[in-house]
Amino acid sequence: MRKIVAMPGDGIGKTVLPEAIRVLDAAGFEAEYIHGDIGWDFWINEGNALPERTIKLLEEHKVGLFGAITSKPKKEADDELSDKLKGKGYVYFSPIVAMRQHFNLDLCIRPCKSFKGNPLNFIIRTNNGFTEPMVNTVIFRQNTEGMYGGVEWTNPPKMVRDALDSHPKMKIFKNVKSEDMAVSTRIVTRYATERIMNAAFEYADKFGYKNVTVCEKPNVLRETSGMMISVAKEVAKKYPHIQLWDTNIDAQMMWLTKNPEIYGVIVAENMFGDIVSDAFAGLVGGLGFACSANIGENCAVFEPTHGSAPKYQELNPSIVNPIAMILSACMMLDYLGEKEKSDKIRNAVTKVIEEGKVKTYDMLKLKGGPDVFSKGACTTQQITDEIISKIKSKV
Ligand code: NAI
Ligand code: MG
Repeated sequence: MRKIVAMPGDGIGKTVLPEAIRVLDAAGFEAEYIHGDIGWDFWINEGNALPERTIKLLEEHKVGLFGAITSKPKKEADDELSDKLKGKGYVYFSPIVAMRQHFNLDLCIRPCKSFKGNPLNFIIRTNNGFTEPMVNTVIFRQNTEGMYGGVEWTNPPKMVRDALDSHPKMKIFKNVKSEDMAVSTRIVTRYATERIMNAAFEYADKFGYKNVTVCEKPNVLRETSGMMISVAKEVAKKYPHIQLWDTNIDAQMMWLTKNPEIYGVIVAENMFGDIVSDAFAGLVGGLGFACSANIGENCAVFEPTHGSAPKYQELNPSIVNPIAMILSACMMLDYLGEKEKSDKIRNAVTKVIEEGKVKTYDMLKLKGGPDVFSKGACTTQQITDEIISKIKSKV
């Protein structure tokens, strides 16, 4: 039987992951879920939020379903570390970033798709009412390099400073002391760029998207965005039926609310991909609906975009929306070639949203809290049950 490493993590990760597994079971996906430890408790008690045993599990089974983790600023992290580990040199490191780096999960895919009838859908005001553009955009974000590659310094060492000073544009900084300088690099490599461009075009081809947009800033970031555009042009030659567009990240944000429905697949570097994927997610319902996949050459991890929402973790029954997690599980099914089962689940989610009989608090635009049920919101388990009953009624 297929084995999936299930890593609920912290807070509402522990609530939504089991709900997704219930839905996977209902759709007939047969798997054994092997629990993987990850998150804040393991930082506190072991000084490592991603224990070696969890890495081993992922190395062995290669597919992970992940909920969410809690992370806290440096001082709180140090204060909360258990007494027996304090002062022993433990430094908190984000387990998600660690996972992405260890397994080189370089492709981050974030589909942003409107569901008909979702009260959170973006609308455009017109002279005599409004229109509701149906967004169907899939963001391919380079997940390992670029601005978030981590190659950065405050007070760059002399070797680095000397190398920087060899660039003519450094003239304007020539009187700045290194200790008064912070540098973050934006390194883009041809190999990683080819991988993400190929993946984006393959995806557009497979799922019938008519355009791929490189969303960068090549007029200013001439080298890094420039390499991305030139690789995109090469890859595009293999797909004459798919248009290659390019937009500037700033202009894309402005056009976001003008005609978001025209964009198919969007490709961007790590930071720009982070921005553009959050922007598009906001048009289709926000965090309760935003799913994602992190895919490397040998391993893949599927997770909702949202965090652990600690303020809701104690609420019983739970109020949070499990759909982002359930749609992330669908992406896992697609990756495993189980398209029929993911279709079944997405159709059920689509029906539940369109019928609108059960809605989580976010879909009712309520402020979260224990009183949302008296205002018409359903529980996390109720909306999952409704999705499951739709799946079952189809069989
Ligand atoms: P968050 O995503 O946990 O919450 C932001 C807002 O969205 C809150 O109002 C929350 O209640 C709401 N929300 C989140 N998920 C929801 C859902 N499924 N249904 C309905 N409402 C939902 O982000 P926040 O508050 O900035 O961070 C909380 C913790 O999560 C922090 O420790 C942060 O470091 C961590 N985090 C972890 C991520 C991950 O595991 N991938 C991503 C983002 C934050
Ligand atoms: Mg983000």
